[in-house]
Amino acid sequence: MPWLRKIHKWASVIVGVQFLLWLLSGIYFNIMDNTEAAGHTYLSHEHQEINIDSKRLVEPRDVLNGFKASISITPTYLLGEPYYLLTHKKGLYKNFENRYTLVDAYTGAQVSIDKAFAGKLAKLSYSGPGEISSIKFLQRPLDDFSKQKNSTWQVNFSNDINTSIYIESESGRLVGHSDDHKRFADIFFMLHFMDYGNEGSFNNIQIILFAFVTLWLSLTGLIWTVDLGLRGQYKIKFFAKQQKIKLFDKHQKSMGYIKLSTHSNLLDSLIDHDIALPSSCGGGGTCGRCKVMISPHVKVTSADYQHFDDKELQQGYRLACQHFSNDVEHMTLIDVTDAEKHTLELTGSRFISPMIKELRFKVKNGPALSYKAGAFLRFLIPAAKGCSIPLNIPEHLKPHWHHIEHLEYEHLACTRNYSLAESSLCTDELVFTIKIQTAPDHKILPGVGSSYLCNLNKGKCIDVIGPFEEFFAKPKSDKTMVLLGAGSGMAPLKSLLVDQLAQSRLKGAPTRNIHFFYGARTETDLLYADEFYQLAKSNKYFNYYPTLSQPHEDWLGSTGYAQQILKMNLNNIDNIDNLEFYLCGPNEMMSQTIEFLQAKGVKDSAIAFDDFS
Ligand code: FES
Repeated sequence: MPWLRKIHKWASVIVGVQFLLWLLSGIYFNIMDNTEAAGHTYLSHEHQEINIDSKRLVEPRDVLNGFKASISITPTYLLGEPYYLLTHKKGLYKNFENRYTLVDAYTGAQVSIDKAFAGKLAKLSYSGPGEISSIKFLQRPLDDFSKQKNSTWQVNFSNDINTSIYIESESGRLVGHSDDHKRFADIFFMLHFMDYGNEGSFNNIQIILFAFVTLWLSLTGLIWTVDLGLRGQYKIKFFAKQQKIKLFDKHQKSMGYIKLSTHSNLLDSLIDHDIALPSSCGGGGTCGRCKVMISPHVKVTSADYQHFDDKELQQGYRLACQHFSNDVEHMTLIDVTDAEKHTLELTGSRFISPMIKELRFKVKNGPALSYKAGAFLRFLIPAAKGCSIPLNIPEHLKPHWHHIEHLEYEHLACTRNYSLAESSLCTDELVFTIKIQTAPDHKILPGVGSSYLCNLNKGKCIDVIGPFEEFFAKPKSDKTMVLLGAGSGMAPLKSLLVDQLAQSRLKGAPTRNIHFFYGARTETDLLYADEFYQLAKSNKYFNYYPTLSQPHEDWLGSTGYAQQILKMNLNNIDNIDNLEFYLCGPNEMMSQTIEFLQAKGVKDSAIAFDDFS
């Protein structure tokens, strides 16, 4: 549900930012000086003395007779003198829209608050230094008192905090003081009450919208949580249902019971019980190696149809990687490897081409692994969040990623196989060249295993099973080796090559003849090219044939595919009976080459290939 995640993400950004603002403004309200924040730094608390000559006062009734539209009359005092305030229109509060007439209580004459009168009223309320610098007549809205709806005199004083005193122009009422302290505090009130329109109220449209956004955040979060739960993302072991399965070996001898979580993949979950079935496709359903016999019979998948005949399917043969623990009661393990589980710690990670990274691991808390060159390890990729674009792409490689859409996703736990690219004779590090698989379209996730591993940080650990040794150099053979590969098929071929060199070094004997045909798209995709050029220069038994399918104009080497270059050079390498072929690369490259070699009379036993599809 990408749209749901998008809404959730942006709603959480909005809510998160506002929460931060509430936190900040809340802290400020706790430490601020209330007098300063109210603008009362220079508010005078002295009272004007009032002297009234009651005999001279005009009767309120007479005043009202002269102003028929009035709804009330109130005695008031300005500058110590008595006045009548006639109200013609009355709002709920004083700052609401009101209409007044001010009348001299001695003469009954109408009085207006002019500039001079407003200045005197403001001065009476002021206790600070400095004089009046300006007086302005303002209509609403006022910046300092946004709730004030009536016209007002703004009397400004020249002092250190720029005090302004506001006097209502019809009534002479003191609206309030404002200064730099109050204006600063008002910013925090605005942030706290989301009063971004400066309406002077928390009852605003922003808060209403915010409430809807928060509601969306909660709803999308809830839907997303339920969705992840349904897809098995949360495994609460205490509540998780378990399936009890009776195991048999291939001779139908009982191996006892195991318990697997329901809905768990058979190939992956057997690993938790230290049972590693053979697999060279990492659970993709293509290698056909993870055979088991299941009862009662479960649905046959298309991968099962490809690897078993009708009779076997009837007997219950299935591929473990294609089935789940539900409904399985008995399972016969046709083949089990003795591969062990290890925890590896990442010691190095670097891009060696725009899409391929070299990752180096060491066994954590254990001895270094010894393996035959060409072996692979099965990585147990945990459920995690992933991203279609890897982190920390070097600046010069970024243009190669510009066309890839940024996509964040979550994936379930899975297993992936990767070949080692070194020899245990040369290093105790486990080196891999991993291609970051991009998605062909937005409906398909990018390679979750490659993305997860290539985004691991140094020092992080991951569990693996292996080594699995299925692709290796023929022992005790001194025939000429022909290595053919492309892309990330480099890893096992490089492993064979460096192992041969290390063996001959140890024996003090010359290396076997090795011819390495390697294809890439462009020069930046040629992995370890400098290393191989150097080796070819210094070792007469090693020949390197790089070729590019989409070269730049200045490329002087071979162009085309690696298998084409092999065809062109085959007769010049050695007697065909004295050749051994080791292939690793895209399916098409391998099938074309095998077909060609078979047509040339090369025996199947002389062709080894690592099918990583
Ligand atoms: S077919 Fe199951 S692991 Fe390859």
